[in-house]
Amino acid sequence: MKRILTGIRPTGRLHIGHYFGMLRQIAELQSEFDTFVMIADMQALTDNFHQPQKVRQSVLEVAYDMVASGIDPQKSTLLIQSLIPEIAELTLYFGNLVSLSRLQQNPTVKSELAQKRALFGRSVTWGFLGYPISQAADITIFDADLVPVGDDQLPQLEQTREIVRKFNQIYGETLKEPEARVIETARVCGLDGNAKMGKSLGNALFLSDDAGTVERKIGRALTDPLKAYLGDPGRPEVCTVYSYHALFNQARLEMVAAQCRSGERGCVACKRELAVQTNAFLQPIRQRRAELEARPGEMREILLEGSRRARGVAQATLARVKERMHLNYLEGTA
Ligand code: TRP
Repeated sequence: MKRILTGIRPTGRLHIGHYFGMLRQIAELQSEFDTFVMIADMQALTDNFHQPQKVRQSVLEVAYDMVASGIDPQKSTLLIQSLIPEIAELTLYFGNLVSLSRLQQNPTVKSELAQKRALFGRSVTWGFLGYPISQAADITIFDADLVPVGDDQLPQLEQTREIVRKFNQIYGETLKEPEARVIETARVCGLDGNAKMGKSLGNALFLSDDAGTVERKIGRALTDPLKAYLGDPGRPEVCTVYSYHALFNQARLEMVAAQCRSGERGCVACKRELAVQTNAFLQPIRQRRAELEARPGEMREILLEGSRRARGVAQATLARVKERMHLNYLEGTA
């Protein structure tokens, strides 16, 4: 079975953007592939080093959200990044193979840095600038064949492939060059119409929001600003609420669009219908999450067990790496 690996930064509860962007696809892929899902706490610390408790709490929150969304610990290996210290060691060796300017040109890093002006100002940390190197280590240390990514993460994977090629060229064929598996993701915009849904943007609908919260948030969501009154014709293509109908109310989507365009459908009723459909969709996820949350010890065991299994793989890869780098002092003769 080919192995896939994906990671997620534990910086808070997961929202419907995560669900339609990643979780749903992993839940499907896990029957077909040997699936590793990493909770990347070391990477989360690169821009949350000042709030370690938040990262710590989010590890469990993210685990609940993932398993409630259908990632099955019987099929997938769930692991906590920092429990595999071999990743940090490999990151250090990889650091010699990447130039500073290459990191500064990484499009994902560039756009993230633009958003993190408040945190870094003009002087970005070594840890943050280097996180693509540590991500390369995440992927290669587990011998992953494929990395499911949305197209926004493609530059990261390209950087990983470059590092692997360079390593193999200098030290001899050692590491597997992973391939991207671009997954079809539904782009989920924020409740405020922002192109991106994000916890830090304050515009997210969380998988764990209760029914009342979902209703309230949808009630305040942005609609077509030119449709002021019931009876005014609306433009579904610019309406946030309509874009959510496409996710949660597919069966009635065409009718929703037609009624909006004709003016027959008012935004209040439209939102009410969406809230009902969204809650129907989220209810089983919330239910499973509540069951999991009632047994935190069990989730902890799942994460420790997955991390143990993953560490075995990582140790074998690192031993190969160190042998090639002439760092195998403890093996054979000195
Ligand atoms: N960078 C990814 C994110 O921002 C998380 C991540 C960490 C990851 N390690 C990974 C993704 C390895 C894919 C493969 O969500």
